Amino acid sequence: MTSQVCITCGRKYDLDEVVYSCRNCGDILEIIHDFDVLKKNLSKSNWQSLPLSVWKYKDFLPIRNPLRVVSLAEGGTGLYLCRRLGNALGIKRLYVKNEGENPTGSFKDRGMTVGVSKALELGVKMVTCASTGNTSASLAAYAAKAGLSCVILIPSGGVAYGKLAQAMIYGAKVVQIRGNFDRALEMVLQLSEEHREIYLLNSINPYRLEGQKTIAYEICDQLGRELPGTVIVPVGNAGNISAIWKGFTEFNTLGLISELPRMVGIQAEGAAPIAEAVKAGKDFITPVEMPETVASAIRIGAPVSWKKALRAIKNSKGTAETVTDLEILAAQKMLARYEGIFVEPASASSIAGLKKMLEHGTIDKDEIVVCVTTGHGLKDPDTAVKACEKAYEAEANMESIEKFLGLVCAQA
Ligand code: F0G
Repeated sequence: MTSQVCITCGRKYDLDEVVYSCRNCGDILEIIHDFDVLKKNLSKSNWQSLPLSVWKYKDFLPIRNPLRVVSLAEGGTGLYLCRRLGNALGIKRLYVKNEGENPTGSFKDRGMTVGVSKALELGVKMVTCASTGNTSASLAAYAAKAGLSCVILIPSGGVAYGKLAQAMIYGAKVVQIRGNFDRALEMVLQLSEEHREIYLLNSINPYRLEGQKTIAYEICDQLGRELPGTVIVPVGNAGNISAIWKGFTEFNTLGLISELPRMVGIQAEGAAPIAEAVKAGKDFITPVEMPETVASAIRIGAPVSWKKALRAIKNSKGTAETVTDLEILAAQKMLARYEGIFVEPASASSIAGLKKMLEHGTIDKDEIVVCVTTGHGLKDPDTAVKACEKAYEAEANMESIEKFLGLVCAQA
């Protein structure tokens, strides 16, 4: 039977039980499907002919009535072959899976459509999350659509303006705490344990990751037989890399793909507990007390899904890398200027990581590589404007424009 299962001791919980960590050993849960039932359902399903979207894969998602889901048309994001950027970096087949194209501008929408649909099935009236910005923007939107009240905790001054604007306009109760994301997460965990009517929708909730695993399904469907050798993912709280790996392994178990990619996680240098653990060959992380990076979305020191992420990296024979803020900002500009794709700094870390690994020879230039870009550039316009040269200010006449462009004056 499909159930929620503890990743460490294997204790099982019913799909309708509200439980965020194992009552036996305290570790986090994942949803394990009954593959015999799934195979039977798939054989009767027309899923392969449906258009690309999260709900194309409804048979793979643990929601009872797929006709009553809370959806804003999430998923079905572009997978772009980046010839110009690939040339500049020295790699032939680079693809970008641009998750900024989701309805609220990040991959979180894939998780929230499933998570908020589950909230309705459970009959809860209030949902909550801690966030560096995107999770709260997404949850606020889906809660609004579902008619649920929503309370979000964010680090005061630590969230990019576009994301804050989203959470506010969708009508969430926004609480800015004088503390960082890690503290905010501890607080919402406690809140939802002590007040059982409040349903927690951070990525510790395994329903979120069920939605996000569709990134992997879509990559398989979009690339057909030519699967990537390496998939590069920005890592913060470490849910997404775990979810994407889960997606690939499920397609593999079902015989839909025969090979698995390497999963590579990229963290910002000032917030890199997972990358540091991987580099040191450790199977545990040392949390970072005061995480710092320009990529505010991944400014996280104690990632809740660290064990799942280390498992994904190890089982896929992948690795992890750190990048500096300067490398992130340079990569953001390169992706925008070579490919016309504008992503927020956290997203650009996957490109920065690829560049570094190509330079170090840890990725082969003949491989097919997919970089996942996780959030839209307009989420954080301040950082983008600051990273560019100031716009030229001119008098409102031809002469000053011609001077700026170095053109010869027409009358001369
Ligand atoms: N990229 C972006 C744009 C994000 O917003 C996040 C996480 C990540 C990458 C990292 O994903 O946490 O699954 O490893 N943002 C969360 C938030 C923490 O609150 O919006 P992860």
